[in-house]
Amino acid sequence: MTFIRTRSPRETMLAGIAAAARHPLAERPRAVAAAIEAFAADPALLEGMDCPCCPDRYIRHLLQSDEEAGYAVVALVWRPGQMSPVHGHKTWCAFAVHQGTLTETYYAAAEAEGDLPQPRSTQLLHPGQGSHGPADPALIHRLANLSCRTAISIHCYGVGFDRFGQDVNEVHAA
Ligand SMILES: [Fe+2]
Repeated sequence: MTFIRTRSPRETMLAGIAAAARHPLAERPRAVAAAIEAFAADPALLEGMDCPCCPDRYIRHLLQSDEEAGYAVVALVWRPGQMSPVHGHKTWCAFAVHQGTLTETYYAAAEAEGDLPQPRSTQLLHPGQGSHGPADPALIHRLANLSCRTAISIHCYGVGFDRFGQDVNEVHAA
């Protein structure tokens, strides 16, 4: 008897991201976002993975890192009330919500030295919904779990995971 093993939703999504991450740079964030959004709402996406939350802060779990191609995919787990800093990105990025809801707020850059970015608009993101952007630290946003249950989102950034500490976020405010 021959067993045919089909790809899991996670494997299919990661294959789609790998292909999209090779698009020309200008098209890459949108293509990667589409690859994530196509599977983000699938309840089986993280099946077989342990993705615990952290009581102190939102936490990343690595799904895939390709240093040669220059990208990494992570699942972020957000307990109620946890949020990112107000930040821009030094690399292109794309994400979508997998479970729960996240609130994304966009900010206008500070106008003068010593000022802080000012919130301009907010959107509530449900499973399958997300956003993307080019490498531009002046495109400023914050993600927050303002709901009453844990949220999980899938993110891809344009650097290998070993560079996440210094080459992803430019923090503008806590
Ligand atoms: Fe971000």
